[in-house]
Amino acid sequence: MPYNQHVSDGAHAPINADTRLCGVFGHPIRHSASPAMQNAGIAALKLNWRYLAFEVHPDNLRAGIEGAKAMRFIGLNLTVPHKLLALEIVDAADARARLWGAVNTVVFETRDSAGAWVPLARAGVDAIQEVRSHGFNTDGDAIVQSLKEDFKWPDMSGASVLILGAGGAARSAALRLAQEEVGQIYLVNRTGERARQLAANISEHFPHLTVIQGYPRDPVDLVINATSLGLKAGDPLPIELAWLQTRRPARVFDMIYRPKETALLRAARNAGCRVANGLGMLLYQGAEALKLWSGAPPPVEIMRAALQKNIRD
Ligand code: ATR
Repeated sequence: MPYNQHVSDGAHAPINADTRLCGVFGHPIRHSASPAMQNAGIAALKLNWRYLAFEVHPDNLRAGIEGAKAMRFIGLNLTVPHKLLALEIVDAADARARLWGAVNTVVFETRDSAGAWVPLARAGVDAIQEVRSHGFNTDGDAIVQSLKEDFKWPDMSGASVLILGAGGAARSAALRLAQEEVGQIYLVNRTGERARQLAANISEHFPHLTVIQGYPRDPVDLVINATSLGLKAGDPLPIELAWLQTRRPARVFDMIYRPKETALLRAARNAGCRVANGLGMLLYQGAEALKLWSGAPPPVEIMRAALQKNIRD
């Protein structure tokens, strides 16, 4: 019987010897909304799985992934600070994870009777022998999907975008927006050298795209906060307030979802910009991960409702 066998109707099936695990590794992880969202999706798909949050120090990331593989976890999500490091650890990485240099989803796979790698959830349990970890990145598509949905903005081609930050999240966003054929990308980061490296990296993959370091003189169509500023009460703004108030960008997106309205989003709203937080991005990266693990269409609206409830609480 495969691990993705359906169990009885209703809420979660009782835990028994067939119950499989998946989860998220992070450091810190205590405030993750992923367990609420993923367990709601798992219950709706009637899977006999549970999704837990694990506090894993970066020094133990390899041991954690290998342990999950040995215990036949269905899969993992990885969050700060593991996404870049995981690319070096997984047994295989798909093309997007390699392009974006980061892994946020691991699918544990085994070989089917024809020798092809398939997710463990879709293999016959008795047939499982060799297992590998396969890294994916569902963040890039999720940001584009949530930007399109939240701002009712189906076509971003030609847009000018200011990205705040130059870490892994900024990199995925910039490279994925480049695929949407945005017109210009501006990069602002505390450490100028990291912004310079990211600009060079984008230009290497998308030589025709204009990438500029520093604040644009003219208003832009979109500002994205991909820094961690705003997570903690009392954090400074990730943007120059005078620039925000005088240039009034059309849209401001904060990847942070807790608090629901960061100081950046409040200032942007007061300046007359349209604003959206990172809830949609979290939702779509999680829905895509559940689809990779189970092979089933994810129950997006059920997962969204679980997230909204968790973040309100
Ligand atoms: P992630 O994978 O989530 O992008 P990261 O690679 O650690 O995480 O990147 C965090 C981003 O937030 C970086 O752009 C970082 O700026 P630096 O490159 O200068 O480190 C930014 N950041 C974090 N703390 C900051 C702070 N106190 N002030 C300004 N920027 C900050």
